[in-house]
Formats: sequence, structure tokens, C-alpha cells
Amino acid sequence: MLEQSETIPDFPKPGIVFRDLTPAFADPETFRAVIDDLSAAFAGTFDAVAGVEARGFLLASALAYSTSTHLVAVRKAGKLPGEVLSEEYALEYGTATLQLKPSSLRAGARVLIVDDVLATGGSCRATARLIERAGGTVAGIGLVLELTGLGGRQALSHYPLHVLVSEP
Ligand code: ADE
Repeated sequence: MLEQSETIPDFPKPGIVFRDLTPAFADPETFRAVIDDLSAAFAGTFDAVAGVEARGFLLASALAYSTSTHLVAVRKAGKLPGEVLSEEYALEYGTATLQLKPSSLRAGARVLIVDDVLATGGSCRATARLIERAGGTVAGIGLVLELTGLGGRQALSHYPLHVLVSEP
């Protein structure tokens, strides 16, 4: 399903083997299959979709539209105006902070978190904490590609997890 994805060594830092799914998402059949798979895996369990900046936005937008659910943007630090919640996390190549506007979430919302690649799971865990702090519950986490061996699955073991493709 991800035949058109690319593998780029030493990006964005030396030693990181970067998996770029954007060429696969550029293919209409592949993108539709990805969105349909995520939608089917969590059917009926969520009423909002949170996308993690930036590649998660691609998936969350299409999924929220196709399922008529609320779209929630989880952004990198400094991008969201007004009142925000913040969570710092470690990623495969450094640390980062994610932010959420609590006003973007309705009380008790069942939120599906989506992103393209699962590595250490840090960004999804931070997103889950943001959602819980904002009064929502995490319905599940949907990812397109799991890079096994980086501990991501273990880091997210508290949540229903669905990945389309796993690779070492
Ligand atoms: N996010 C974290 N690690 C990654 C990797 N190796 N490729 C693509 N996205 C990533």
C-alpha cells in the first residue's frame, strides 16, 4: 500500500532514516484507501479527529470531513493564539512541544488521534495528554506506518492502536 513512499537517510539529522509518506498520499487511490481504513478501524467510536502538525493534518482533515466529525488541530509551540495547553515530549530526533486550544474540544469529546508515522510515540502520547487535560477522552490512535523497535507501541499501550503497515 505504501509502495510510493520514500526512504531518506540522514534526514532531518545524521543517523535518522526518514520515511516520507507524502508521495504515497499524492496517489489518489492510496490516500483514499488510507482514510477509508482508518475510518473503518474506529467506526462509531469517535466524534472528533485530532491531527498532529504537520503531516497528521493531512489525514485528520480528510477523516473529519469524510466522517462528519469535529477537526482538532494539535500544533507545534507558538502557532496557536489565545489560551493553549502545552506538552513537551522527546521525539526520535530531539525534543518538541505540542499545543492545543481547549476551546477546540467539546467536553467529553471522544477523540481519535491520527498521524502518519509511529516512531517513539512521543508526539501521540503528548497529544493524548493534551486531549485528556482539555476534558476529552482518547478514542484511539490511528497511524499509517509503524517503525518497530523504537518503543512506540509500548508508549501508547493505554490506548486502542491501529496501524496500517509495520516495518522494522
Ligand atoms: N517521525 C519520527 N521518526 C520518523 C522517521 N524516521 N521517519 C518519518 N517520520 C518520523
